[in-house]
Amino acid sequence: MTDVQPHTEPIGAAQDGRIRLYGPKFESDPAALYTQLRRQHGPVAPVLLEGDVPAWFVCGYREVHQVTTDSQQFARDTRRWNAWDRVPPDWPLLAYVVHNPSVMFTEGAEHRRRAGAISDALDLVDQFELSAHCEKIADRLIDEFAGSGEADLVSQYAQRIPLRAAAFMCGMSEADTPNLVRDLTVSVDSSGPESMEAYGRVQQAMQNLVAGKRAYPGPDVPSRLLANEGGLTDEEIVLDLLVVLAAAHQPTTNWIGNTVRLMLTDDRFATSLSGGRASVGQALNEVLWHDTPTQNFIGRFATRDTMLGGQRVRAGDLLVLGLAAANADPQVRPGEGGALGNRAQLSFGHGEHGCPYPAPELAEVITRTSIEVLLDRLPDLTLAVPGEALVWRQSVWMRGLTALPVTFTPGYVR
Ligand code: HEM
Repeated sequence: MTDVQPHTEPIGAAQDGRIRLYGPKFESDPAALYTQLRRQHGPVAPVLLEGDVPAWFVCGYREVHQVTTDSQQFARDTRRWNAWDRVPPDWPLLAYVVHNPSVMFTEGAEHRRRAGAISDALDLVDQFELSAHCEKIADRLIDEFAGSGEADLVSQYAQRIPLRAAAFMCGMSEADTPNLVRDLTVSVDSSGPESMEAYGRVQQAMQNLVAGKRAYPGPDVPSRLLANEGGLTDEEIVLDLLVVLAAAHQPTTNWIGNTVRLMLTDDRFATSLSGGRASVGQALNEVLWHDTPTQNFIGRFATRDTMLGGQRVRAGDLLVLGLAAANADPQVRPGEGGALGNRAQLSFGHGEHGCPYPAPELAEVITRTSIEVLLDRLPDLTLAVPGEALVWRQSVWMRGLTALPVTFTPGYVR
């Protein structure tokens, strides 16, 4: 790695013709990089991840579909990776690849047992009840800033809703929820010992929750996992609940934030904002196509040598799912406003390891309710800064704003 060039140079070949999938160029305009990768390499591009660790970037819609559909050829267990010797102990992406025995990294029949139990448990969530609870959460949060006439809708609103909704689905007491939300947010947003300590507290909270539900079951997700015919152990359930919480939190937060941003910056929505219920669904779908919350996902590992998108992929190679890039594939991408009714985006992944049914529906209930309550309560919501001044978080994986400052006529508190 001696001739590696600094990250600040223009996008271009860094090493063996590979392009860096990180750094300021990527962060300032990921869509431009996706286009360049597609033009230079086609639907499967050799890239370098942080620390110049090699991977394949799958950016063709057809190829992402193929990789996520064929779990025999492209598997999920990170121990299959052939580049572990390139990974330093402090690699920033370790959290995505260090194996743990949760649903995320299991395969085959074991994965079906675990993911099937999650789907069964989520399927029994009453979506009307969830929506009513989200209304309550949203109203309370708006009460906190309604009188001031201004707010940051990321930190004061979007970020605070999905975990509260997930805690409700998990039958957590309202008293325990604020600590969980705080600890999980710290564990995701910061690094170092404070993040580890916060994550330790989240783990402990899940252990206590599962022990409590074993003693006193209720109409909630952990109790249903405990009762599932797959015979999951308490340890498995704790691990999988941690996956569910983490999987729900950041993507749903970004879905709320990115959709409100679209509605406040795009004239097609601005004109109907106050009575905008009819267009919320359209905005939600357009965001999945054009600014999807999980823009890239690690990933899959080739189980044997194969050809993919014209590239020779070796057994053990890592494939990054370029979900945003696949949605932008010129062969499928709907034009401006053309996303209405077309729900074939790959924003929730796909196949056996995709976001498990009915999680995308639950995420939509949470997101849609949050936005509808916001528009009902603060109908003259306006961006406090020009749209171009909004800043995207520096992340290759998530697409979300650092802040969404708005102003509105100070309203009443309920
Ligand atoms: C209530 C909210 C949500 C829950 C409970 C949830 C749950 C999960 C779980 C448990 C997994 C792991 C599946 C497995 O390993 O078999 C997963 C994967 C995933 N989820 Fe979600 N999720 C939620 C919201 C979202 C949202 C809003 C998005 C993005 C729009 C999203 C995108 C994904 C993606 C891209 C994957 C990986 C798919 C793949 O590997 O093919 N999820 N989700």
